[in-house]
Amino acid sequence: MGVLEISLERLLSDLYELAKIGETQGQGRTRLALSDEDHRARRLLISKMVDAGLEVRVDKVGNIIGRRRGVEDNLPVVAFGSHIDTVPNAGMFDGCLGVLAGLEVIRTLNQNNIPTRHPLELISFSNEEGVRYPLMTGSRVAAGSLQLDEAYRQTDSSGITYLEALKSGHPNVENLAEPLRRHGEIKAWVELHIEQGPVLDSEKISIGIVEAIAGISQWLLEINGRSGHAGTTPMTFRRDPVIGASKIALEINRLAREKGSGVFGTVGIIRTYPSAINVIANRAEMSIDLRDISPQRLNESRREILSYIEDTLSGLGLTYSIRERARLEPTPMSKTVMDSIMEAVSRTGVSYRMIPSGAVHDTQNMARITDVGMVFVPSRDGISHAPDEWTEPTDIKAGADVLLHTILELAS
Ligand code: HGY
Ligand code: MN
Ligand code: MN
Repeated sequence: MGVLEISLERLLSDLYELAKIGETQGQGRTRLALSDEDHRARRLLISKMVDAGLEVRVDKVGNIIGRRRGVEDNLPVVAFGSHIDTVPNAGMFDGCLGVLAGLEVIRTLNQNNIPTRHPLELISFSNEEGVRYPLMTGSRVAAGSLQLDEAYRQTDSSGITYLEALKSGHPNVENLAEPLRRHGEIKAWVELHIEQGPVLDSEKISIGIVEAIAGISQWLLEINGRSGHAGTTPMTFRRDPVIGASKIALEINRLAREKGSGVFGTVGIIRTYPSAINVIANRAEMSIDLRDISPQRLNESRREILSYIEDTLSGLGLTYSIRERARLEPTPMSKTVMDSIMEAVSRTGVSYRMIPSGAVHDTQNMARITDVGMVFVPSRDGISHAPDEWTEPTDIKAGADVLLHTILELAS
């Protein structure tokens, strides 16, 4: 008998079905956390999990958890999954692959009547992406690094709270399950995810065994200056927040380039007010996204950026407020889980390499409460967070088979 395999056909059919929810022809799909589109996707996932025989619960922060009983059902669970919420105009694999491959693992075990000693849990975490609300609400509450009532109070750009958005899909929030996972409840966590970078694709390697996940700081900056007439205000009189924002954006780019290959700096948002062609802005809002795999270098960059902002804006006569919207430290993966992934890779005979993750993941929060590991599959040309995000079906199958055998290793 050959090595146990998942059904690629079933997995692809699920991926395409989910990809249709929130899709705009040619522009990818948008399912921001707890939006109507996200709730539609969540209902689809729940029905598939029920059909796969899982005992499904939704917790008070919106995580969806499907449990498969173990032979020794009181043992700690082996958990796996990812997220199905997306960025705007997203591809069809970010997060979704890890959740739907996990579902396919469950169906494959059922179909082959394979019990596991430990119980299994497939988890789809709420709001991983952090576009509408600060990132990773679901896994942060589950891991105890964010209090539920603080999560509920977070508001989106139109003032809708996380709780209101959750209630729009789950009116009886108070009846939902407790989200906080107790220590010792979970034996291990594994997340299958697309690499979202160019390494595996460029080296034509199917599997990345993640060694560590980058740390991150995301700031929102509001810069205040003085409005004025574009044609009469002397250049020397101006207090223009757009100049401040532009200098900061260039400095972020310079610092990331000069600090080394593992450092990433991005300004994804710059908004000016009143945003009129012949008016000097009185306010500019901007985001900064800084990432690094090295803890010491990340802290150095954090300090340098904050003092550059202070010196530059005060030098321009501008005032500002800054808020750190998200902060995670670089996170090494657990040797026990990496060993299980390695065992699964050798059993399935796929090509692999060790790899760091520049993208952040729910796995970082799970690392606070259990042993964790991640399996990457290639992203064509390293493209992600974009409609033409793509992973070859052969690599999708390799990733899902490695996930299957990693789970069998950990749960036996
Ligand atoms: O931003 C990230 O790294 C992840 O895709 N949320
Ligand atoms: Mn993701
Ligand atoms: Mn993402």
